This record gives sequence, structure tokens and C-alpha cells, in this order.
Amino acid sequence: MYHIFYNNKIFYTFKILKQFKHSYPNIRIYGELMRFENRKKDYRLGVMLVGLGAVSTTFIAGTFISRKKSKPYFGSLTQEQTIRIGKREENKFIKIKDFVDLADPKQLIFAAWDPIADDAYAAAKKAGVLNDKDLNSVRKELKEIRPMKAVFDRNYVRNLDGPNKKRYKSKMDAAKMLIEDILNFKEKKKCNNVVMINCASTESYIESSDKHAFLDRFEKALAKNSEEISPAMIYAYSAIKAGIPYANGAPSLAADIPSLVSLSKQMMVPIAGKDFKTGQTFMKTVIAPALKARMLGLRGWFSTNILGNRDGEVLADPSSFRTKEKSKLSVLNSILQPQLYPHLYGDYHHQVHINYYKPRGDDKEGWDNIDIFGWLGYPMQIKVNFLCKDSILAAPIVLDLVLFLDFAKRHGLYGVQDWLSFYFKSPMTDGKPVEHDFFIQHMKLKNTLRKIKKEKPITHLE
Ligand SMILES: NC(=O)c1ccc[n+]([C@@H]2O[C@H](COP(=O)([O-])OP(=O)(O)OC[C@H]3O[C@@H](n4cnc5c(N)ncnc54)[C@H](O)[C@@H]3O)[C@@H](O)[C@H]2O)c1
Repeated sequence: MYHIFYNNKIFYTFKILKQFKHSYPNIRIYGELMRFENRKKDYRLGVMLVGLGAVSTTFIAGTFISRKKSKPYFGSLTQEQTIRIGKREENKFIKIKDFVDLADPKQLIFAAWDPIADDAYAAAKKAGVLNDKDLNSVRKELKEIRPMKAVFDRNYVRNLDGPNKKRYKSKMDAAKMLIEDILNFKEKKKCNNVVMINCASTESYIESSDKHAFLDRFEKALAKNSEEISPAMIYAYSAIKAGIPYANGAPSLAADIPSLVSLSKQMMVPIAGKDFKTGQTFMKTVIAPALKARMLGLRGWFSTNILGNRDGEVLADPSSFRTKEKSKLSVLNSILQPQLYPHLYGDYHHQVHINYYKPRGDDKEGWDNIDIFGWLGYPMQIKVNFLCKDSILAAPIVLDLVLFLDFAKRHGLYGVQDWLSFYFKSPMTDGKPVEHDFFIQHMKLKNTLRKIKKEKPITHLE
């Protein structure tokens, strides 16, 4: 409780003082002190991962390897991308990590929960994403990361189980145990800030209901062990209650319920989600805006995948698949706007399938058959065959989210961070219409950074 109160007090003081900044320019503002805290060599950013599977271990191992061998962080916008400042002819491009005060990947300290007790090295070996040479180069560091006991319930993830679970009477007790884990980790590892990212298995589909609508109802439901409260929600609640930023990389219903959104505002905690946008949906949100920009019509989009990792095994259960399917299906309508273009997009057939096929491991293969039409309604087809590595695409997204959420918190941003929609299949927007178009999401992210730095947003008019 001391930590929560401490954090609140700092931000509260910051808000009040900011109003007096112009009248008292010499006044020292706590918020600004916090902002630049990460520039200190000894800044420590804790990363608490729900789930220590393929995505989490690829992210952790990749970060260790990159910082040990000074390898580039391929796939990471925060580490590799530049941002243009000023007019086009000024030709001024700055690396994003130099433009905004992000923590450095070297400053990250990791922890995780998982019902399977394997340490990060054993879990990474099982996930089979990185080769032995890479894993052995950071074996010692990975072995030190042992998962804490998880809040896990097979009613929500049927195709998986493990012994490393917390025992609790009520779901509220489970939340209190998680909050204790967070505060202990923060204190023990002397972290200046901590971020939680949900990288756990996809849970069964849950419809948002009145138990999720208001905080008092949600907390009552926690205390009464309501089945409408899933482990993913308990983790999200605990993070927000403990005052740490939270992002949901899985499609499970978690922070995207009104009660937790309002708690995030009350606690001044930035939250984001959900479901990392990595393979097929990434491609979909790139191709669909182009079809629409050229006013080419769509008759159908058939998407299928094979994958053989543990995620695929969990998704072989129809109740977990439904959660994923909802997330994957949602993108086209919002991009194509059939209500505005009924003759082009009013009647297309969209299907998404995921098949568990063990030999493929984490090397997912996706096929898209896109039936389009153009001039005079003449039909054409586009075929996409994406041979990707799921976790290789997801790991840099985890890194970016960790750094941006920590940044957001230090800059006093809280509630739903829809500028981070760029990273998600089903972006949270706090009531605003969802934007799925990859290029708009990208521009919004960069313009948000420009705005925070008091630079002009870029509209490409000049
Ligand atoms: N890899 C990608 O490209 C990608 C893209 C979008 C979303 N996702 C989502 O990210 C999540 C992780 O994917 P993955 O490939 O690492 O899966 P994975 O199966 O390898 O790892 C998930 C881990 O979560 C653990 N887990 C399950 N329930 C838990 C709980 N209640 N508490 C703590 N741990 C729990 C499992 O034991 C497992 O070790 C999945 O929900 C997946 O759908 C992944």
C-alpha cells in the first residue's frame, strides 16, 4: 500500500505544480524529475510477464543476446526507427530512442508467472524458437529466471496444465497475492518502475457483462469467485491496483472492460491491448487499406494457418479459438467501411482458420486467398503465403510496449493508450471508433511522440 500511495502522491503533486509552472519558472517539478530518472545509469525497469512461453522467452533471450553482443534489435520501432522533425526539406531525422526519453533495453529486469515450473532456459528450449547456440550464450541469465506461482484455472485454458499454481480461497485473495508479488519484485530488485505484459495462453471466450461494468461489481465478483472473472482479468486488476502499466498481448478479455478502464484512470496507470499484431493480421491491415485506397472491391478473404507450438495446441480448443477468431475477424470492417462503400465491401465473405500441426512448431505458415474485383467488376485474386516465425515477430513488440508504457507512466499519461494500437489486433480505444489501418496507426504513434515533445505533428502537407 505504501507504494501505491507514494506513486499517487508524486503524480498528484506533479499535476498541481504544473499549473504554477509559468508563474514560478524556478520551481522543481516532481514529474520532470521522474521523466529524466531513466537517463540515470542505474535506472531499473522491471518487466513482469504473465506466461513464460515462446513469446516471453524469445523476448527475454533476445534482449540478453542483443545487449551482450551489441546486436541490433530488428523489428523494434523504439530501437531501430527514426522520426522526422520539421519540414521535409529540412531533412531532419532522429532515432526514436534519442528523440524521447525511453529506458534502455540494458536497464530491463525480468520476472514471470507460469503454471509450468520450467526456468526461462528450459522453457525457451521447449518453445524451440531460438537455436542452441543463441540460447547457450545466455544460459546463465535465463536459468536465473524461474516463474512465480501462477493464478491459473483450467476452466479458462483447457488444453494445458501445470503444478506451479497459487492456492487461494477467493479470486480477490489471488489478486492480493499477485499485488504482493509485484511489490516484492519491485522492492527486491530495486526497480524504479515496473510494467506487466500478458503473454499467457489464450483463454476461453468471455462476453463482457454487467459484472465487468463497474469497479464495485467487479470487486464483488472477485470476492465471490464469479466464473465471469478469468485469471487474465485478475492479473490486469492486480497490475493496475499496484500502480504499474499493463498491456495485454493475448486476445483474452482482461483490461478491456469498463471497470478496469476506470480503475486505470483512478490509479493513473497507462494500459493497452489487446492481442499482438504479428503475422497474418499485420499483413491484412497493410493490404486492406491499399485495396480501399484504390477503390478495388472485395468478394472474399479466406485466411488459414498451420502452427505447431503450445499456443497452437491451446487454440485447438474451440473455446480458446473463439477468442482468437473474434480478434482476427474484427479488422476488415473497420478498415473497409462497408457502410460507406456498400457496392465495394457490402457483401464480402471473411473466414479465419487456425490448425494445430505439430511438425511446424513456432514456424507458422499462413495462407490468404483474397478475391477482389476492379473495373467493370472483373474478378482478380491475390495470394499471400507468409512463412513467419510467430515469436520472432512478437518479441520486439513486447520490447516496444515495455519501453513505451514506462515512458507513458513517467509522462503522466494514463487510461487507455490508443496511440499504441499499432501493436494490436484488437486495439483498445476507450469508446472511440477503433482504427485498424496499419499506416494510420503508425502515423498516430509517431505524432503522439511529436506532441509529447512539443513538436508539430506531421501531416505531409509540407
Ligand atoms: N506469437 C505471436 O506472434 C502472438 C501473436 C499474437 C498473440 N499472441 C498471444 O500471446 C500469448 C503467448 O503466446 P506464446 O506463443 O508465447 O504461447 P505459449 O503457449 O508458448 O506460452 C504461453 C504460456 O502462458 C502460460 N500460462 C497460461 N495460463 C497462464 C496463467 N494464467 N498465468 C501465467 N501463465 C500462464 C502457459 O503455461 C505458457 O507457458 C498467446 O495468448 C498468444 O495467442 C502471440
